[in-house]
Amino acid sequence: MGSISNSYLETKNLSKSFGSFQAIKDISISIKEGEFVCFLGPSGCGKTTLLRCIAGLEIQSAGMVFQKDLDISNLPPSNRDFGIVFQSYALFPNLNVFSNISYGLINNKWKKDDVKRRVDELLELVNLTDHAKKYPSQLSGGEQQRVALSRALATSPGLLLLDEPLSALDAKVRVFLRKQIRDLQRKLGVTTIMVTHDQEEAQTMADRIFVMKDGEIIQSGTPNEIYTKANSPFIASFIGSMNFFPAVISNSNQVRCNNVEIYCDTADFKKDDSVQIAIRPEDIQLKKENSDDNILPAKIRDIEFLGSFQRVYFESNNITKDLIIVDVPSVNARKIKLMPNQEMDLYFSREDIRVYPG
Ligand SMILES: Nc1ncnc2c1ncn2[C@@H]1O[C@H](COP(=O)(O)OP(=O)(O)O)[C@@H](O)[C@H]1O
Ligand SMILES: [Mg+2]
Repeated sequence: MGSISNSYLETKNLSKSFGSFQAIKDISISIKEGEFVCFLGPSGCGKTTLLRCIAGLEIQSAGMVFQKDLDISNLPPSNRDFGIVFQSYALFPNLNVFSNISYGLINNKWKKDDVKRRVDELLELVNLTDHAKKYPSQLSGGEQQRVALSRALATSPGLLLLDEPLSALDAKVRVFLRKQIRDLQRKLGVTTIMVTHDQEEAQTMADRIFVMKDGEIIQSGTPNEIYTKANSPFIASFIGSMNFFPAVISNSNQVRCNNVEIYCDTADFKKDDSVQIAIRPEDIQLKKENSDDNILPAKIRDIEFLGSFQRVYFESNNITKDLIIVDVPSVNARKIKLMPNQEMDLYFSREDIRVYPG
């Protein structure tokens, strides 16, 4: 009783409880062959539990898992086709790099020559050819994770599972490895699921993101869809930065924030509904660009220099008591010479405003 579709991996109504606590709730997802997906959400939302159920390291309380249309729900991990990398490198400390990578191959009774050829190939893939004889303690964190990745890929599994593989590394290495993992995944075409709590990591690496909260998937889509069409204030603020203003619907194309009328699309609401309007810091302009721009007089309270852009905090008591965050590209900021206490108008277009129930 396989599934329909062209999906490579599928969960159907998957749930897992620990005692009376339901860690994942009725999760049905479908992942295509060769896809790179991320489970993204705050700590404790059930990402690892879902990944471990897919691997068979945790037995689901209800529901099913299919891989290539085969029901694997009751197979032990050793009979499932995946490689896995954990946050902690979990290398064998007493084995050198070569032996760590070849471990699974030798268990699978590969011939000595084939093992050597395969390990050399993997070492080259992750640029560690010169490190074959080193022990884990002689490697940096990033190098250890590349060994762990090679080990997970050694038997050419159909599915690669990554549980926060970059979280223990420092920022520079993390950014470098994001690209290396993504390039490697594309080259091999291996279907990959990565768990992360880091939205930037998910945004930069995934073809598709499943956003999780309290054991449920609350939205899925491409990084761009999730960013521009977040279906809840929770996601809108979890992914990137967002300004929220409480408001009340005044008519079919306006809301009222305090005593300011703002143009936006209110089609899903009726007059006098309480709402929150949301706008990204990069969507607020310091110069008028569109004919239907909203205009808001404001005053600079603070400026943060963040390299390629400056984050400017504006006060505008007419609309909100909170500060309004505006991200200004540094090239523009240098021309305008922004200073604290400066008064200026903010412009934002109605298309860039999202309206959520209040
Ligand atoms: N073996 C377990 N026994 C009891 N509770 C668990 C166990 N594993 C996970 N949990 C609980 O399930 C919830 C989800 O955990 P987890 O899947 O590890 O979250 P995440 O990976 O998103 O941080 C957490 O509240 C955690 O405490
Ligand atoms: Mg986890």
